[in-house]
Amino acid sequence: EKGGFASFMDKEIHDQPAAVADTLRGRLDAQGRLKLDEGVVDEYVLKSIDKIIVIACGTASYAGLAARYAIEHWTRIPVEVELAHEFRYRDPIVSVKTLVVAISQSGETMDTIMAVRHAQQQGATVIGIVNAQGSTIAREADAVLYTRAGPEIAVASTKAFVSQITAGFLLGIYLAELRGNKFPDEIDALLSELDAIPAKIQRVLDTAAPIREVAASMANERTVLFLGRHVGFPIALEGALKLKELAYIHAEGFAAGELKHGPIALVEQDQPVFVIVPSPRGRESLHSKVLSNVQEVRARGARTLVIAEEGDTVAAQHADEIFYVPAAPVLMTPLLCVVPLQIFALELAAAKGYDVDQPRNLAKSVTVE
Ligand code: M6R
Repeated sequence: EKGGFASFMDKEIHDQPAAVADTLRGRLDAQGRLKLDEGVVDEYVLKSIDKIIVIACGTASYAGLAARYAIEHWTRIPVEVELAHEFRYRDPIVSVKTLVVAISQSGETMDTIMAVRHAQQQGATVIGIVNAQGSTIAREADAVLYTRAGPEIAVASTKAFVSQITAGFLLGIYLAELRGNKFPDEIDALLSELDAIPAKIQRVLDTAAPIREVAASMANERTVLFLGRHVGFPIALEGALKLKELAYIHAEGFAAGELKHGPIALVEQDQPVFVIVPSPRGRESLHSKVLSNVQEVRARGARTLVIAEEGDTVAAQHADEIFYVPAAPVLMTPLLCVVPLQIFALELAAAKGYDVDQPRNLAKSVTVE
């Protein structure tokens, strides 16, 4: 059932092109509107919402952070992303004009369930982005958009993560169209860019030998840092979480712009630092700012492991190791950049002889608060 892979996690990493493609498939009705899988939310309600709050835990919360840039850009609705276990305790400002999006692979995460109930009590509409059919969050939400990742067995979430981001994009596109922010041809263009993502993930998988080799040689590292900016920031957080979970190595993800406000003090000789470099085709200033960060840490002795867009020869000049991902619209690049980091954590943990499917101290779904 591992399909010839050494672990469920490795299999699930390789399932990602299909998970994204399946999450995208057959989503639009005859009018080109998104079909929710279960439940109905009145279009009038969706037209009148003035805020979206994403609630989730762990990797699912990083999916929310990654999707937020696109949802805000396409809809112009403010999006907050809040850890579910923090949400209830800060007296959140929620009203009938708030759309709460609960993201959960299992649909059984107690922290997220309690946050959903709290939001509903305040009058919010809740849409679940859920993988497990018929789970508690799927049942309790007003409507569900299922991620069609299939069963995820490994404790570390991989294919659910990319499917959650994809579902977040679909929701954003839907809201944008519904509220008249985007015209049909713009929607078509976004959807066809999304349709091209699975083949691009496949390409990352097919060219992953270098990251596997580097990871296997790093079993003795004690700490690894991850830097990202804009959509790369949540991916830095996710890369660090994967490494903590699987390889039991201290790891931190930082917003690259934050480096000079403190974290750069951590950098010493041979410190491995992953940097997710934005596309040079995006905002030029971001590309050059993150490359300056690469130079700053390298000047202090860091070993720089750079993830960059294919053809980015400037990034290659500042990298000790470079891993390329295919070009894609900037807002969709999290779906590609996360893959080398998943593989890195998997291979490093395997090199240490750890059980990558069942890391110590962790459960697949956290059903207690
Ligand atoms: O089932 P959920 O998506 O609600 O789970 C949320 C987190 O517990 C989960 O993503 C956790 O962080 C994973 N172990 C990460 O790999």
